[in-house]
Amino acid sequence: MKILRSLYEVKTYRATLKASVGFVPTMGALHAGHRSLLQRARSENEICLLSIFVNPTQFNNPEDLLRYPRHEVQDLELAAQQKVDAVFLPTVEEMYPPNDTFRIEESQLSHLLCGAFRPGHFSGVLTVVMKLFQLVRPTRAYFGEKDFQQLHLIRGMVESFFLPVKVVACPTVREADGLAMSSRNLRLTSEEREHAPLLFKTLRGEPDLQLARQKLEQEGFYVDYLTEQWGRRFVAAHLGSVRLIDNVEVL
Ligand code: PAF
Repeated sequence: MKILRSLYEVKTYRATLKASVGFVPTMGALHAGHRSLLQRARSENEICLLSIFVNPTQFNNPEDLLRYPRHEVQDLELAAQQKVDAVFLPTVEEMYPPNDTFRIEESQLSHLLCGAFRPGHFSGVLTVVMKLFQLVRPTRAYFGEKDFQQLHLIRGMVESFFLPVKVVACPTVREADGLAMSSRNLRLTSEEREHAPLLFKTLRGEPDLQLARQKLEQEGFYVDYLTEQWGRRFVAAHLGSVRLIDNVEVL
C-alpha cells in the first residue's frame, strides 16, 4: 500500500494510473461505515484510493476541530486489510497555502439543515472535495447516505462543474442497536453511548415530528433540527458535547 503525503507524491502516483480509480475521501478515525465504502470502491474499480484529511475549513467550531479523533496507525491498518492501493494524507499547509483565497460556495441547499447550524461548513466540505477530486481524478467517488445533505451537495457540484467523476451513494451502516456509524461516536461517554440509539429509534418509530422532538429533549438530547424533506426525515442533536446526525426514508 502506497502512503502519499505530499501533492507531488499524489500527482506522480496518479500519473502512473491508466485503470479506473475508486476514491473514498475521509477524515480518518475509520469505522465499519468507511470499511463498507472501501469494499464497494475495491469491488468496482481496479485501483482503490483512500484519503485521510481532517479538513479545518469545514469546522465552524475550533474546539470541535481540536477534539476530532485522529487514529492514523489504526486507520492505515484498516486500509491495508481492505487492500487499499494508496492512502493520501495531505498536510493542511499544502491543501490550504496562505495565499489561497478561493472557496466553493453553494447558495441554497448548503444553508438548510446542518448548514443553518454550522455556518460555512458545506463551503469547507465542497472546497476540500473539489481539491481532492482535482488531485485524485477518480473514476468513482464513494459517500455514505448518513451525510445525506453532503452527498447531494457533492452530486450538485459535480454536475455544475462538469466534473468527470461518478458519485456513488452507499447506505448508512449502523451498530447492532441502530446507532449510525460515525467517527464522532468515539467521543461519547459510555453512558451517552448507551443513550445514543434513541436518536434512530425515535426518528424511525415516532410518526409525529413534534412528539419525536419532545421525546428526544426529555431524554437529554439538545435538538438542532428534526424535519422531513424529500421523502426523508432528518435529525441533528447534541448528546453532551457530541453532535449526532441521522436520516431515514419516510415509509
Ligand atoms: O464526510 C467526511 O468525512 C468529510 O466531510 C469529507 C467528505 C471527507 C470532506 O472532508
